[in-house]
Amino acid sequence: MPAQPSVLTLVPRPTEAVLRPGHFTLDAGTTLRIGEGAGPAAELLRVLLAPATGLPLPASPDGRFALALDPGLGGDLGDEGYVLVIGPDRVLLRAAHRTGLLHGVQSIRQLLPAQALSPTAQRGTPWLLPCAEITDVPRHPWRGAMLDVARHFQPVSYLRRYVDLLALHKISVFHLHLTDDQGWRMPVAAHPELTEVGGHRAESQRGPDGSGAYDGIPHGGSYTRSELAGLVRYAADRGVTVMPEIEMPGHVRAALAACPSLGNHPERTLDVWTRWGVCDTVLGVHDEVLDFCRTVLDEVMDVFPSPYIHVGGEECPTTEWTHSAAARERAAAEGLPGPEALHGWFLGKVGDHLVRHGRRPVGWAETGAELPTDFTVMTWRDPAHTLTAARRGHPVINAHHRATYLDYARSDGPHEPPAQPGAVVGLRAVHAHDPVPEKADDETAGRVLGTQAQLWTEFVTTPAHIEYLTYPRLCALAERGWSGTTDWTDFRTRLDGHTARLDALGVPRHL
Ligand code: ACM
Repeated sequence: MPAQPSVLTLVPRPTEAVLRPGHFTLDAGTTLRIGEGAGPAAELLRVLLAPATGLPLPASPDGRFALALDPGLGGDLGDEGYVLVIGPDRVLLRAAHRTGLLHGVQSIRQLLPAQALSPTAQRGTPWLLPCAEITDVPRHPWRGAMLDVARHFQPVSYLRRYVDLLALHKISVFHLHLTDDQGWRMPVAAHPELTEVGGHRAESQRGPDGSGAYDGIPHGGSYTRSELAGLVRYAADRGVTVMPEIEMPGHVRAALAACPSLGNHPERTLDVWTRWGVCDTVLGVHDEVLDFCRTVLDEVMDVFPSPYIHVGGEECPTTEWTHSAAARERAAAEGLPGPEALHGWFLGKVGDHLVRHGRRPVGWAETGAELPTDFTVMTWRDPAHTLTAARRGHPVINAHHRATYLDYARSDGPHEPPAQPGAVVGLRAVHAHDPVPEKADDETAGRVLGTQAQLWTEFVTTPAHIEYLTYPRLCALAERGWSGTTDWTDFRTRLDGHTARLDALGVPRHL
């Protein structure tokens, strides 16, 4: 791979980029020639550049800065690729699809001086774009980032900023982890108690699982439908799909606190969990529970147009089912070998419901071999599970925790804030993480959709902490997903330039 001219400090690295002499200057006289269907990209360019540059960038039929859709380019560029040619007198951004143009706009933004990303007016900076020819197509369609808003709630105003930062890195999927033992954040009209009761906990454990210490501070929050629908539109305008996750049949303590009749002991009153770790209270398997899940998922599908809907599935102890006569009877009635098999049966039922509505169910893998066949599988425990799941025919997202869990510490240095115990996930490990298993043949490799970063938030309460853990490691993951294998030194060099952009955006380097 030829060395990247240092001025092209784009992250992720473009597929092909040639630097030419000279530059194009964006100024108050610059006008946009906006082809049919390119309006959203032009609008994004204006919205992104307005705060720092104040440039109006009005439309004009003879504008020297052109944005154009050309479906004929789809064979080479797919839905997400783009071609950008910057000459001294003209800029031309082309793509086959709206999303490609949106990604191209992010590259234009990165090619400008870093001050262009500042939220406040920057006077006296010439807005120069280096002359270049760039052709850029992602290696993997799934370049995800998961944020857990169940353990610690974040308002939608912050989620919009989070999306802005994802879009800057051409991340394609924002996985929103909306429910867990410690909080239910998704509004469901038929069950207002889910957020009214399940959205609040009395306090939170301090420190890791088993610490026995609590902070005594109530924590809560939930979204409205219109907030979530607005977030979905905001993300779509930036080329990002919001994929919701509703955990089942485990990680449901908050739902059980709100609706005890869904449990294996309907007479039992539970609190929204205040501890961290794996909770052994899980959903019952009676018809009311399946109806409940379908009702919740109907509302989820109404709010989120995402083709993929995540239903969790991991860390579901089967102890309650084993001890429940009703669950054992259900297993027998369904012809299952035992209550443990209710896990796959349950996910099969909710997965079928999603499939009947034209959506694709997604689940976390415990082994890669246990999820129903029509599931898209997120592997997290072991890289071998990626191979297992892909060989079984599942589309797979490789989210191996040792390379993609950003709740683990960035380093073992003395100044790192307390993080998820157990591992360090360094920048280099993220950069080195190939989502495609080495032993995969072409057919199996073709089932690997990509990779995704996770931020579980047991120990992360503030936006600053979220961003400290997310950046720059997400830059490396975005590069791996978009560009494939890149040279570490080359990445580091570009990241140095890119850090000025993160600084301009106020992403904290330290906590
Ligand atoms: C997970 O880490 N609970 C998928």
